[in-house]
Amino acid sequence: MSEPTQDHLRNRLRVIADPATGKDIVSAGLVEEVLLKGGLVHVSLLTDRANAAAMEPVRKQVEEILAREAGVKNVSAVLTAHKTEPAPAKPAAPAHNHSHDHGHSHAPAAPAKAPVALLPQVKAIVAVASGKGGVGKSTVAVNLAVALAQQGLKVGLLDADIYGPSLPRMLGLSRKPEVINDRMMPLAAWGLKAMSIGFLVEEETPMIWRGPMVMGALEQMMGQVEWGELDIMIVDMPPGTGDAQLTMAQRVTLAGAVIVSTPQDIALLDARRGVRMFERTRVPVLGLIENMSFYCCPNCNHRSEIFSHGGAKLEAARMGSEFLGEIPLVLEIRTNADAGTPITAASPDSAPAQAFKAIAARLWEKVGGVAAKPAGPKITIS
Ligand SMILES: Nc1ncnc2c1ncn2[C@@H]1O[C@H](COP(=O)(O)OP(=O)(O)O)[C@@H](O)[C@H]1O
Ligand SMILES: [Mg+2]
Repeated sequence: MSEPTQDHLRNRLRVIADPATGKDIVSAGLVEEVLLKGGLVHVSLLTDRANAAAMEPVRKQVEEILAREAGVKNVSAVLTAHKTEPAPAKPAAPAHNHSHDHGHSHAPAAPAKAPVALLPQVKAIVAVASGKGGVGKSTVAVNLAVALAQQGLKVGLLDADIYGPSLPRMLGLSRKPEVINDRMMPLAAWGLKAMSIGFLVEEETPMIWRGPMVMGALEQMMGQVEWGELDIMIVDMPPGTGDAQLTMAQRVTLAGAVIVSTPQDIALLDARRGVRMFERTRVPVLGLIENMSFYCCPNCNHRSEIFSHGGAKLEAARMGSEFLGEIPLVLEIRTNADAGTPITAASPDSAPAQAFKAIAARLWEKVGGVAAKPAGPKITIS
């Protein structure tokens, strides 16, 4: 595919309005630089410190719009200070994204500079989260990832649960990742690439990781793993709203978060807590999934709504989020997960697998996948 020109990309930005003047950002002189190399686009947007917060949505829009252009693999847009702006009088200036050094990460010691985002070669990173554990986050993350891979996408699956990693068991993987040139190779399973702290340490090893170590391990699994180019990365988040959530929000550009909840948690407000956490860190909530939504008797097909199913749909509407779908409580989901054969791979035609596939398709649509998909034969696996 041929590359677009820099002028073409610059012109595409004319649809975005400068919040200060209402003019388009190109005419307003905010687009300082558009660089393009090998499908990677770097845009710097001029702003001053006072406007940095107002410009953040503009920066995001720039990335979104250019990412959809044919021939563009990845876009990073940064806010840079006006060259004429006087040096800050106080060191305690608000965080400012000023980065022209492509790909080199800054030490976190310089608080005035946001660190360069990890995983620039991944088109969309989606966190699968919940307010509490045991609601089926890992199960949902694994099955969505497999379903996305079955759509023909290049998929990565990252286990961000450092204390209780689930991927080794759920994917049936127990070998150690290879290390080539100081880079770790993700493990391949069910058409996707996966990485988990559980591949690196023995299951019996007590894992007493403190906050900074969680960050370190997670950052390594993003920065030092040879993920290659991916269409989408699904991140299986640990429960709650702790360090891992913060690391993800700060160190990568998340396309958004999907919140998993069981019907009874909706009543307990756990899902809402999960949603709020992401809103605070300005990560868009892509939608809610109700897991263990209802029970379908394998013998008589009778459907029992054990936990008054449907709460997530109402709650999603109340929060202005999309309801992405519901997954029934089915014994095979658990037995397959325990056997390392996700149900989407083991029984792709089963009702639960179909439910996962429908949610995966909607998710990919939501993160801009339709426009980003290159022309070519569509692979469908039935
Ligand atoms: N829809 C479902 N039907 C049956 N069992 C499920 C379902 N979703 C999850 N489980 C089981 O529930 C347990 C907890 O799920 P898990 O994905 O590990 O939750 P979390 O990651 O939120 O802690 C696992 O044993 C899993 O196999
Ligand atoms: Mg889990």
